[in-house]
Amino acid sequence: MGKTSKDKRDIYYRLAKEEGWRARSAFKLLQIDDEFKILEGVTKAVDLCAAPGSWSQVLSQRLNTASEGNEGKSKIVAVDLQPMSPIFGVTQLRGDITEVSTANEIISHFDGEKADLVVCDGAPDVTGLHALDEYLQSQLLLAALNITTHVLKDNGSFVAKIFRARHVTLLYAQLKCFFKEVFCAKPKSSRQSSCEAFVVCRGYCPPEGYVPTMKNPLFCDDYDEEVNQLTGPNKVLVPFVACGDLSGFDSDRTYPLDLSELGDAFKGHHYQYRPVVQPPTEPAYKKALELKKTDRLEKEHASKVKETYAKSGSSANNRPADSSAVDERASALVDEDVLEGFASVILG
Ligand SMILES: C[S@@+](CC[C@H](N)C(=O)[O-])C[C@H]1O[C@@H](n2cnc3c(N)ncnc32)[C@H](O)[C@@H]1O
Repeated sequence: MGKTSKDKRDIYYRLAKEEGWRARSAFKLLQIDDEFKILEGVTKAVDLCAAPGSWSQVLSQRLNTASEGNEGKSKIVAVDLQPMSPIFGVTQLRGDITEVSTANEIISHFDGEKADLVVCDGAPDVTGLHALDEYLQSQLLLAALNITTHVLKDNGSFVAKIFRARHVTLLYAQLKCFFKEVFCAKPKSSRQSSCEAFVVCRGYCPPEGYVPTMKNPLFCDDYDEEVNQLTGPNKVLVPFVACGDLSGFDSDRTYPLDLSELGDAFKGHHYQYRPVVQPPTEPAYKKALELKKTDRLEKEHASKVKETYAKSGSSANNRPADSSAVDERASALVDEDVLEGFASVILG
């Protein structure tokens, strides 16, 4: 795979590097803000699941914490399990959003006050099993909602990634208990082919007497009968809003490297390859890179696969006998494309 192929396939990935964003997700928050003005009047913001930090960069830029003389006027706290490289004007916490201690730490950075806005672009590690991935994503969203009930002030806003999958109506119903308005936003930079979308919730008003807790029951067993089968006016619906310039770049399309080929609007644009803005600080594939550097990758990789097949009681040409062995085998495999991409960035 050539160095430029992802630039061709993913225009927002390319633009992110050109404009200095750490991840293409920056455009999603920018387009949501353009549509909903969620950053207007915000002085305290929390970015949950923030690494590598493109949403924090957007917050920092739009809340102006990055400009000199403005330090301290707005406060931004970013939380992630992973370490993040510093961003000017953003306080970083390494923590788990499912822990109440993380909520307390956030509040301590706001001098005991609560936030005007909480955003969460959290995503668990993808397993490739769609039903499981959807379930994990919805659990993370509910964890984000739980921690938000500790740190968000009345009338504040909440934006979070959601998968428009089987349980989405229950999630909307739960969010509607806490917010006056709930929208489902699909930014142009989020691929149409993906079920990813973002809930934009405004006007935080928890039910009377509600005590914030991390232990709220999430999905109930009878969900399908109780909530998902409702019809007519009883069915929970939220407005669906497409955001971003609808005639702007299409995230599902492949573009030529030289955009001037598209016509006069891009006259003078000349493609130049750029490395990613911020390579991951503690990538999971670090070990593979080290092995590759010392030419041990193939040997260790091959022996691990062999060992896994042996344990599962099958030969390397057959499928393993049990599914746990499949998982183990999958984790032993290294995606060469990913490896090569990052090797070129990190090892030069
Ligand atoms: C898609 S990335 C976020 C990208 C980020 N919004 C940006 O713009 O750079 C998802 C992040 O969620 C984080 N995450 C997943 N579960 C978490 C948890 N329980 N607590 C904190 N962070 C979590 C992961 O570590 C990962 O960095």
